[in-house]
Amino acid sequence: MNPEEFRRLGHRVVDWIADYRAGAEARPVMSRVEPGSIKAALPASPPAQGEPFEALLADLDRLLLPGLSHWQHPRFFGYFPSNGSLASVLGDFLSTGLGVLGLSWQSSPALTEVEEVATDWMRQMLGLSPAWSGVIQDTASSSTLVALVCARERATEYAMVRGGLQGAPQQLVVYASPQAHSSVEKAALLAGFGREQVRTIAVDGRFAMRPDALTAAVHADRAAGRHPCAVVGTCGSTATTAFDPLGALAAIAREHGLWFHVDAAMAGSAMILPECRPLWDGIEGADSLVLNPHKWLGVAFDCSLYYVRDAQHLVRVMSTNPSYLQTAADGRVKNYRDWGIPLGRRFRALKLWALIREQGTDALQARLRRDLDNARWLAEQVAAAPGWRVLNAVRLQTLCVRHEPGGLDGDALDRHTLGWVGRVNASGFAYLTPALLDGRWMARISIGATDTEREHVAALWQRLQDEVAGRRPNGE
Ligand SMILES: Cc1ncc(COP(=O)(O)O)c(C=O)c1O
Repeated sequence: MNPEEFRRLGHRVVDWIADYRAGAEARPVMSRVEPGSIKAALPASPPAQGEPFEALLADLDRLLLPGLSHWQHPRFFGYFPSNGSLASVLGDFLSTGLGVLGLSWQSSPALTEVEEVATDWMRQMLGLSPAWSGVIQDTASSSTLVALVCARERATEYAMVRGGLQGAPQQLVVYASPQAHSSVEKAALLAGFGREQVRTIAVDGRFAMRPDALTAAVHADRAAGRHPCAVVGTCGSTATTAFDPLGALAAIAREHGLWFHVDAAMAGSAMILPECRPLWDGIEGADSLVLNPHKWLGVAFDCSLYYVRDAQHLVRVMSTNPSYLQTAADGRVKNYRDWGIPLGRRFRALKLWALIREQGTDALQARLRRDLDNARWLAEQVAAAPGWRVLNAVRLQTLCVRHEPGGLDGDALDRHTLGWVGRVNASGFAYLTPALLDGRWMARISIGATDTEREHVAALWQRLQDEVAGRRPNGE
């Protein structure tokens, strides 16, 4: 494909995306395809001769679109809001079109320096002190892995350059709540702690980690000759948006020499709103922090921000310096390969920078406030309706709800919940995520797709009430 063909087809692709976004509401939100059906409709072997690009676009319409759940649909209430902003889509497109790579500052100086600027803009938008330095990682999972590797190396005084964990005299222990994301345990396992050294600390009635339980666990491990190494606090848990008490956890971490990592993957975006910041009181006491602008803030996936207070330590743990990567600028610049695991880095900062520039902080704040308001409104409706319950404290934009008709409990209640959630999802009208809470199924309603307005939330609420009452909308 030469640049002129690219120009022609690129216009078509942009038109295609614009039409897709404009028409998303007319599509069933959740894909209804059977497993394997897409694969079965595609040729099993690659074409020997090239095909016109139009053939791919035709397959996109005919085969692929029915096989997608539409995250940009205004009645998408599943998982978390993601990938919304079209400005950021263009930033991502530019990044790919430029085709540059950041192996070192010198390999693409602007790539590094825009990342420095964009992460620092975000730091300011989040109300964090200048003590933090940021880097873009692919996901929160990778950021948490980096954090726990850094924790391990601080606790062992850089054992990795000696015998590694194999030579450690004591077992290192990591602490997190049962509401922590599965990526925390995965990171601990990958960082070599071993499942037996991952402690699950009890939570209170609001699903937040209990500081007294953490202190007791740390004391017990010390008494048993183990080495308490790191605590991961969750700021906005996946299931219920629970907030661990970061200030209290920071104090315990300080007292016992623990690394304190905060997972704010979802809720971190909310901190661009000053009124939400009390939810992460104590954040300045953390050693590292991750948040995902590719969630609610609207940056195109993937864009995870990892902030640290001691950048020198991070670089010491992560750095590699083969001769072919050395340049005369080293020592005066940031080489982001030393701030995480991959060597090669995309120009990810462009899509974050594009979003912030095109929207401005005022519009970003206004959109998040709209979603908070919609969540509060829905929580009020659900709480006031007979037979319905809101199971979590709705502090951001996610509700956990259950319909509990009189006389139903236990497995029968689970069947009822999974039944009505499944029917709503299968209808294509809206998409919610069923999840377990304290061993029982509930429906998680996550509000905040870019195009979700009050009318869509109100339509969802009407639909849920109709569904449990057995009223089927016309035409179904
Ligand atoms: C609290 C929390 N942490 C971590 C993750 C994992 O994020 P990622 O997909 O960026 O690894 C999620 C994703 O839903 C999350 O909600």
